[in-house]
Amino acid sequence: MGKQLWGSRFSKSLAKEANDFNSSLHFDSVMFEEDIQGSIAHATMLGETNIISKEESQKISNGLKEILEDIKQGKLQFDYDLEDIHTQIEKWLIDKIGETGKKVHTGRSRNDQVALDLRMYLKKEVLKIKTLLLNLLKTLINLQKKHTQTYLSGYTHLQRAQVITFAHYLGAYVEMYKRDFERLENAFERIDTMPLGAGALACSTYNIDNKMTAELLNFQNVMLNSLDAVSDRDFVIETASCLSIIMMHLSRFAEELILYTTSEFKFVEFDDGFTTGSSLMPQKKNPDILELIRGKTGRVYGNLFSILTVMKSLPLAYNKDMQEDKEGIFDSIRTVKDCLAILPEVLTTMKINKDKMLLSVNEGFLNATEVADYLVKKGVPFRDAHGISGKLVVYCINNNKNLTTLSLNEYKQKSELFEDDIYQKITPEAQVNNKTIVGSPSENSVMKVIKINEKWLEKKENNND
Ligand code: ARG
Repeated sequence: MGKQLWGSRFSKSLAKEANDFNSSLHFDSVMFEEDIQGSIAHATMLGETNIISKEESQKISNGLKEILEDIKQGKLQFDYDLEDIHTQIEKWLIDKIGETGKKVHTGRSRNDQVALDLRMYLKKEVLKIKTLLLNLLKTLINLQKKHTQTYLSGYTHLQRAQVITFAHYLGAYVEMYKRDFERLENAFERIDTMPLGAGALACSTYNIDNKMTAELLNFQNVMLNSLDAVSDRDFVIETASCLSIIMMHLSRFAEELILYTTSEFKFVEFDDGFTTGSSLMPQKKNPDILELIRGKTGRVYGNLFSILTVMKSLPLAYNKDMQEDKEGIFDSIRTVKDCLAILPEVLTTMKINKDKMLLSVNEGFLNATEVADYLVKKGVPFRDAHGISGKLVVYCINNNKNLTTLSLNEYKQKSELFEDDIYQKITPEAQVNNKTIVGSPSENSVMKVIKINEKWLEKKENNND
């Protein structure tokens, strides 16, 4: 009956509208390779355990391999009237090898099959995203090495706060993207469970060897509960969540760089190859690429929320609602890959305006904390020292001076403890480099951290396959 795998139970075909509404082939066809590899492993296991004969198993595997080649070479066209990728591959197999093809689904349901395909697909894509993250990290670390003495203001409340270096600034994002990588690494461990054998929801009476199938497909674990294996999508949610966090980090970085290219800051300038013009205002150079990274964060968050909502309150086991798990995560994967691929290009071609960065340090009393710390080191309690430094700042503002142009006499009017050495303690270099703990902006500390991170990178690069 009709083109459905389950047609025999029905007295008439599915209505065309219902069929179109029901079909997922237009988006799940991207998993054709996973579906075929999964079926080859399943058929191999069926042959090895004598559930089907070795010849049948071989015939199925060969047929599936040919189908894979044919799809890759564009010789096979998807029939979008079919329900999903599983139906399509099985139909091609039966068309190709005849009756034997009908045995591939022995001891299997599309419920465990789709969970398998999606897990395989996510494993492959998570690896790609991890590679892109490593490449971004390498770009950032290389940039860091050139800017351990490039001083600029760090901000709190977007108000000038204390001196940092551009290397230190970039280092903040290095730590974030490292954690993003580790989060994916961690999520991968839970994606890596092989659900076949669960069948529709309660397994089958064949002596399925799912450990063998798992080994053939390079899975670390097999499912321990058949209901869970076909009905949870927490591995999709977890991946979508990791991707959302990556986008959150990317969007903050993008936002700051956008801000730093404005005439008000002018800390950096994007290459013409990565900026666009205005159709009306001839002077404009717009940071579209970074705006898009910032903007695309919305859809990735949306996809996370969509799958969370689909799964909320859904009774066990499989429900067709769960077909809605794919488009969102596919979109998130594509979006994150696109953003991660383009960002290093923007970074390596952008100009860094050291002079402008330094200007931000010299105005705004960023050294007021150092002035207070100077007094603390001479025994003044911090709260009092803070008060004296604050008064000096007010004095400077009223007299159009700053803490480096103030005379020693003026300093002494607020505290006798000030001596000539105050001036060398409040230069940008001193403000940064007199800090010694690892994690601080000093050149020494940043170089130490760069070494730690280069080792981290090397280790992750060697393991990421
Ligand atoms: N296209 C379906 C999905 O993506 C495959 C599983 C269908 N199973 C079923 N019993 N209808 O979820």
